[in-house]
Amino acid sequence: MLNTVGQPPVRLPAEFGMSEYVLNINGARLHVNASPEESLLSVLRNRLDLTGTKYGCGEGQCGACTVLMDGEATRSCLVAVGSVAKAKILTIEGLERDGKLTPVQQAFLDEGAMQCGYCTSGMIMNATGLLSGKHHPTDDEIVEGMNGNVCRCGTYPRILAAIRRAAQQPQSGGSR
Ligand code: FES
Ligand code: FES
Repeated sequence: MLNTVGQPPVRLPAEFGMSEYVLNINGARLHVNASPEESLLSVLRNRLDLTGTKYGCGEGQCGACTVLMDGEATRSCLVAVGSVAKAKILTIEGLERDGKLTPVQQAFLDEGAMQCGYCTSGMIMNATGLLSGKHHPTDDEIVEGMNGNVCRCGTYPRILAAIRRAAQQPQSGGSR
């Protein structure tokens, strides 16, 4: 087919290699068109408008982009969307249910464990994964489990206090 000036239509680079994926996100099956190599982080933020998951380094070094995949804390910047079709993905938007925050979310609020808040969703998702695997971690285990989640504002003592507080509550929210 020719266009109005007699030339073949130009195929934009973004159209090459796009496929439709059906992703299981926060308990819903969401359809999205993306190239298989596109990061899950990019798909969440730019195609599904789930912007609670943050872009920090894009290299797996900061934890801002953490989501749960089949209950495991995962750096979504490092995961290609083409590899996650069968996974249950949980983002920060999927934690609260019926207006009720999870114990981890509530503990972060109660302890004021944030300043600018940029790292907070990644911290909460990582902590949720940590506590779903280990219900009563020691402080050392919390520090080890949160290692790699960076807070540029340095709110680590309050983050530790929040996770300690959350660990005293029955957990919920990590298994949707
Ligand atoms: S943006 Fe993924 S670890 Fe930093
Ligand atoms: S609260 Fe600002 S980066 Fe952690």
